[in-house]
Amino acid sequence: PPGLWQIARDRGFSFGAAVQANLLATDPLYAAAFEREAGILVPEFEGKWSTLQPREGEFDFAGLDAILNWGQARGRTVRGHALVWHDSFPDWAVAAMGEGQTRARGVMAAHIARVLSTTRLRIRDWDVVNEPIADPPGSDTPQAEGEFRNSPFFRALGPGYIETAFRLAREQDATLRLVLNDYGVEEDTPWAEEKRRRLLKLVRDLVRRRVPIDAVGIQAHLQMNRPFNPDVFARFIRDIRAEGLSVLVTELDIREANAIPEGFPARDALVAERAGAFMAAAIGAGVKSFLTWGLVDRYSWLVTDPAVARPDGKLHRGLPLDWEYNRKEMWRVMARAF
Ligand code: XIL
Repeated sequence: PPGLWQIARDRGFSFGAAVQANLLATDPLYAAAFEREAGILVPEFEGKWSTLQPREGEFDFAGLDAILNWGQARGRTVRGHALVWHDSFPDWAVAAMGEGQTRARGVMAAHIARVLSTTRLRIRDWDVVNEPIADPPGSDTPQAEGEFRNSPFFRALGPGYIETAFRLAREQDATLRLVLNDYGVEEDTPWAEEKRRRLLKLVRDLVRRRVPIDAVGIQAHLQMNRPFNPDVFARFIRDIRAEGLSVLVTELDIREANAIPEGFPARDALVAERAGAFMAAAIGAGVKSFLTWGLVDRYSWLVTDPAVARPDGKLHRGLPLDWEYNRKEMWRVMARAF
C-alpha cells in the first residue's frame, strides 16, 4: 500500500514529518517508516540554533547534512526549522543579545547568513521566526503582558526583530519560502482567540509594511481537553490567506485528555477523530501541506519530553504510527482526509 506522502501527493497535497538524524542512522525500522510515509522531512533538532552554532562562530551542520543527504537520495524535500527562536538558543547567544542593539542584530544576521548560505538550494522553505507571540492569560503557559513573547530577541531589538529577521533571510535568497511559525491558535478557548488576534495583527502589519513573508506555519500541537471548533479555526486560516500568505500545518500531534478510556483501540479512535476534524477544517480552508511532529509514538516528544508527557505515566499516542511502527487509526483518518 502507498505511503501517506504518496496518497497526499496524488490528491494535490504534501505530507511530511519531523525526523531525527541519529535515529535515521541507527534504527532501520524508523528509517523504513520515514521512507514509506514522509515526502517532506523537517529536522526535529538539527536546524536549531543550539545545534548549528553552539559556540559563537563555530557551526556544525553534520546532523542537518545527514538529513539532507538521506532525503535527497530518496527524492524527498527538507524544510528548515528554525532560524530565530527563543528556545534551543545557547547561553552565549542569550548573553550576546544583552550586549546592545548593534551586537544583537549582528549576531542574528551572522547566524541567518551562515545557515541560509550553507543550505542554499537544498532547503527551499524555512521557519524564519518561531513562536513570536506571547501566550495570553488563561493558557497553560501565560507570559507577562504584551502581545509579543519576551524573548532575548525581543528584549534586545523590540518587536522589530521579526521584520529584521525576515529581511535578512530574503537578502540571502530571493526565492526561499519564508515562514512565520507559531502555536496555540488552533482550538476554541478564550485565550486562543486572543492569540489568533495577536498573530493576525502581526501578519497584517508585516504585509502592510511589505516585509518579505510567504507563509504562516500552524504548529498544531493539539490537546483533546480543549474544545475544537472547525469553523473558528477555518475562519482564522482564511483570514491569513486573505493577506496573500499560504498556511501550512507544521507540527501536528495530539495529546489526549486527562481522563482517557481503557485500551488502545478506544484511545486511538478518539485521537483519530480529532485529527480528522482538524484536517477537514484545514483542508476546507485551503491548507495543502501537513507535517506531523515525529511519525512514530515511540520517539514522540509527547513521550520523551517531561514538559509535555502525561503526568499519570501513561504514554501519549498522538502520531500516525504506533510504538511498533504500525499504522493506526490516525494514519487511516489522515489518508482519507487528503
Ligand atoms: C521540541 C522537540 O521535539 C523536543 O524534543 C525538544 O526538547 C524541544 O523542542 N515547537 C517547536 C519545536 O517549534 O521545535 C519543538 O520541538 C516543539 C514545539
